[in-house]
Amino acid sequence: YRQELEEEDSESSVESESNEAPASEPVQAGAGVLPAAPGAGPGSPGPSSQHSLAGTTSAPPGVASTLARPPAKPSVFIPVNRTPEMQEERLKLPILAEEQVIMEAVAEHPIVIVCGETGSGKTTQVPQFLYEAGYSSDNSIIGITEPRRVAAVAMSQRVAKEMNLSQRVVSYQIRYEGNVTEETRIKFMTDGVLLKEIQKDFLLLRYKVVLIDEAHERSVYTDILIGLLSRIVSLRAKRHLPLKLLIMSATLRVEDFTQNQRLFPQPPPVVKVESRQFPVTVHFNKRTPLEDYSGECFRKVCKIHRMLPAGGILVFLTGQAEVHALCRRLRRAFPHTRRRPPEKDQEDSVEEMRKFKKSRTRAKKAQAATLPQISLDNYSVLPAGEGDEDREAEMDEEEEALGSDLDLDLGDEGTDGGEQPDASLPLHVLPLYSLLAPEKQAQVFQPPPEGTRLCVVATNVAETSLTIPGIKYVVDCGKVKKRHYDRVTGVSSFRVSWVSQASADQRAGRAGRMEPGHCYRLYSSAVFSDFEQFPPPEMARRPVEDLILQMKALNIEKVINFPFPTPPSVEALIAAEELLVALGALQAPQKTESMKQLQRSRLSCPITALGRTMATFPVAPRYAKMLALSRQHGCLPYAITIVAAMTVRELFEELDRPAASDEELSRLKDRRARVAQMKRIWAGQGAARKLGDIMVLLGAVGACEYSGCSPQFCEANGLRYKAMMEIRRLRGQLTTAVNTVCPEAGLFVDPKMQPPSESQVTYLRQIVVAGLGDHLARRVQSEDLLDDKWKNAYKTPLLDDPVFIHPSSVLFKELPEFVVYQEIVETTKMYMKGSQAGGWPLA
Ligand code: CDP
Ligand code: MG
Repeated sequence: YRQELEEEDSESSVESESNEAPASEPVQAGAGVLPAAPGAGPGSPGPSSQHSLAGTTSAPPGVASTLARPPAKPSVFIPVNRTPEMQEERLKLPILAEEQVIMEAVAEHPIVIVCGETGSGKTTQVPQFLYEAGYSSDNSIIGITEPRRVAAVAMSQRVAKEMNLSQRVVSYQIRYEGNVTEETRIKFMTDGVLLKEIQKDFLLLRYKVVLIDEAHERSVYTDILIGLLSRIVSLRAKRHLPLKLLIMSATLRVEDFTQNQRLFPQPPPVVKVESRQFPVTVHFNKRTPLEDYSGECFRKVCKIHRMLPAGGILVFLTGQAEVHALCRRLRRAFPHTRRRPPEKDQEDSVEEMRKFKKSRTRAKKAQAATLPQISLDNYSVLPAGEGDEDREAEMDEEEEALGSDLDLDLGDEGTDGGEQPDASLPLHVLPLYSLLAPEKQAQVFQPPPEGTRLCVVATNVAETSLTIPGIKYVVDCGKVKKRHYDRVTGVSSFRVSWVSQASADQRAGRAGRMEPGHCYRLYSSAVFSDFEQFPPPEMARRPVEDLILQMKALNIEKVINFPFPTPPSVEALIAAEELLVALGALQAPQKTESMKQLQRSRLSCPITALGRTMATFPVAPRYAKMLALSRQHGCLPYAITIVAAMTVRELFEELDRPAASDEELSRLKDRRARVAQMKRIWAGQGAARKLGDIMVLLGAVGACEYSGCSPQFCEANGLRYKAMMEIRRLRGQLTTAVNTVCPEAGLFVDPKMQPPSESQVTYLRQIVVAGLGDHLARRVQSEDLLDDKWKNAYKTPLLDDPVFIHPSSVLFKELPEFVVYQEIVETTKMYMKGSQAGGWPLA
């Protein structure tokens, strides 16, 4: 089939090169936009007879009774025992009225696009339709991909609950974890997971149907999966093992899929789900506030809460720090405890105070029990006892993150710009962002405590993938924080920019789920009309070397001919192939006479044996190279830990955030000092110091494992517990991957590694440089100093401007002559992150 794939590949390349695209096939009856079922208009749940088709457990599903020719559909009907309450709730969803249309389309066509507003029921219901129609019979699985891990986990739980089935049957798999069993019939996974499965089993024979969810988000993996699946579907058809592909999307830009000849020569039918969206009144600000959009959000929420009728508030902000700051401010302004009805008040708060005190004592005991046991032989930790106050501060923070309704710290309100809101209702404030622990994220789905108003302060995650019940008011700051890559220099920066019109409308739509709602945009309509229409697909915004390596491992050599929904630029493809050639993953192109030929061969370099090994590791090519090299001198366990720690986002807590009060500022300062001290200890002595921040990672992971990886230890040392757990899982996963490639290595995860020996440190430095060799910077010598801007600066081959060692690095004061870095992030200056010291040459 690989050959067949290549043939298809070259066919499509002929098409595109001959400039004679075949006349577009007339769309068959049934293709194009299918009519919505009658009675599914806005606000109307449709006649109940339709619901009985879809909902009851005894009747056969209303599939395909009117079809002329027998479709290639399974004839089995699998009953589902839903609870009556759940069934009733389902029936309210607009997509239930479309079950028949969707299932007929799926029966007749190999590829179907389903689009409908967020919240219409695509993610939770379509897998159930397919399950009932027998698409998981004969031991096969219904696969659903999500671009976000949060959604994969949350949706599998939700669907299991709706179907009254255990998570052994409705399961999820994300990069580090999953609960898939032999019994699994519906499997939610991240798109990256399915891509890895395609590498092992190109035809995806375990699946009868694959759903690509949230296709409008246009994540790179979603895009590439759609391209691959378009080919896999036809390969499966040739073998008479039909595979169905459903692409599910919010109503955004479906044309990229339907009007793309190379991707789908026959445009697939689109089923539109009319959503029961209530009107949302959009209020623009008269003028656009310049900087302080957070403050503007605060004032707007206060106003809504004081003046407008009941209904949840959803605030869109840009990042985790802002989300927390606003939550804190709102909780201060509208504390729960003060506004309780008097008779309940006493009992409740006494009980809660007791629980609170108890949990605090327990935590203190746990901390006391954990810290002194840590052996100081290998990895040093601070002795217990120090920093108890920090601990308290952290607990307060934790409560805030937990959304606890206790706000005992009422002393310093009034610091919020003199706002003295006079609310009659308490405000139940919850944060929501992707790095938040899953159980805390799940809280937004729970109804708020009686007599309170829900207020969720969220980042972009609330825009499409998660639907929060009960929202009537949306406050939209109009901004989004996105990573921005500079293709030439490789510098990345997080930039806050205006959202697109499509995103702004999507955000506004969140207010009209249960009744007419209001959206308050903190910018003017003039600014809105300048927004770009759609956000650009991720493929156009980021480097693609990881994807290219995966594709080469699938024997897709001429990546440029691949049917991408939106192809990456030739420039990005060349950059990716060049990096992969430099890493030894692809064969270098032959020297040729003409530039054109060279260009062509640069874009079709075949994969090497090393490249194949690298492609089996679930990490970016640079890190895969480090793993592939480290089976020497016992370096593998260290390399695995280094790679795991480098690929997990933000091991250390963000302590540079703005403080809400002087008191908090001093707490933050203390914690920063403590973390800096720990870093110095972990960085080690002698030879180890030359590993710089990498030694800090090894030390932090080792010390944490020594303490039994407790949340208390992480908090006490400024480490993110969630990141630590991810590192632990990734270490396990990478160890398995290494053992598969090289069984004789016989590795096992030894959580409590001994620190590396002096010679191992030297090897590790070489291994790191092998992966990050092009990320080299040299300190500017004093005689080169042109002006102050070059003080303590480094120079890289590609950038004209100075770059600096990040203040959080242990090398910040050491300033070694050469460093390699993980990435350059631009904030106030251009900072290298993850730097390690290196003499030159490294030996
Ligand atoms: O995928 P789509 O955005 O079309 O909708 P969905 O995620 O299937 O959600 C359908 C409905 O289920 C939403 O309106 C939510 O209110 C509800 N839901 C819920 O109550 N709890 C969850 N954990 C997930 C969804
Ligand atoms: Mg969805």
